[in-house]
Order: sequence, then C-alpha cells, then structure tokens
Amino acid sequence: MKNRSLIYWTLVISLITFSQALLAEQDTSIRAAMRAAGEAAFMHRCKACHSLDPAKNAFGPSLIGVVGRPAGTLPRYSYSKAMVNSNLVWNEENIRKWVADNVKLVPGTRMRHVAITDETEQSFIIEFLRSLK
Ligand code: HEC
Repeated sequence: MKNRSLIYWTLVISLITFSQALLAEQDTSIRAAMRAAGEAAFMHRCKACHSLDPAKNAFGPSLIGVVGRPAGTLPRYSYSKAMVNSNLVWNEENIRKWVADNVKLVPGTRMRHVAITDETEQSFIIEFLRSLK
C-alpha cells in the first residue's frame, strides 16, 4: 500500500513538472513571436529616429534599456524641457500612452506625433523594447 501511494505521488509530481515545463515553453515561444512582431513594427515606425546601437543617440534617444527607465534621463542626449520635466517612468502603461498619443502625454515633446492605438501592436512593441538591454 505504501509503495503504491509512493508511485502515485511520483506520477502526480512528474505530471505537474511536465505540464509546467510545457507551459513555460509555450510562454517563451509566444513571447518570442511577440518580440519578432514588435521588432518588425519598430523597424517600420521607430527606427528612423531611434538607433539600436546603445552607444548612439540618433535624432531620438537610444531606447536600449528604456523599459523601467525614468523619462528624459539619458546622458549625452538633449531632451526637450517638456520631457525632462515630465516625471514619467517608462513602464508598460506609460509606453502604451506614449505610442498611442505622445503629444498628449507630454505636451511640448520633440518627438513627432505617433498614433499606435492598437493594443496588440502596442504589446508587440513593448515586448520588443523589453528585449533591448
Ligand atoms: C520622427 C522621429 C521619431 C520617431 C519616428 C519616433 N521617435 Fe521616439 N523620440 C524621438 C525624439 C526626438 C525623442 C525625444 C523627445 C523629447 O525630448 O521631447 C523621442 C523620445 C522617445 C522616448 C523617451 C525616451 C527617454 O529616454 O525618455 C520613447 C520611449 C520613444 N521615443 C519611443 C518611440 C517608439 C516606441 C517609437 C515608434 C513607435 C518612436 N519613439 C518613434 C523621435 C522619434
């Protein structure tokens, strides 16, 4: 009896471990797909002004490490006063607002108006920005 319950629990535990591994794998492949879609959107809509070279600020500041960064704080980039004084942190919520209507979020910003209101496209871009480290 004791042996059987041991086998039973071993089975249960390996099943749980197995399904967790499956879920984790699924999660990473979904994220990878989102990142790829975000990269495509970025190339199309952001890269003209934002370099992916961490040492380089183009017309816009480098976005390497931007997720979680306080707005307007990269050294060697000359931000608008509006951006420096915005007191924003680039968390997911603010990035959504920014790409949906940057001029509304930070009136007086120097970034040309963008209007990416599709939440799915926003999520893709955010997933891509997260990978820029
Ligand atoms: C036409 C050029 C241009 C395009 C296109 C553009 N940006 Fe910008 N971006 C700028 C400029 C210029 C600034 C600095 C704004 C300021 O100082 O007011 C900026 C600032 C930012 C910041 C704030 C960075 C910081 O260090 O505080 C983020 C985030 C950002 N852009 C994201 C994006 C994303 C995402 C896209 C594409 C959807 C995009 N930008 C498209 C020019 C652009």
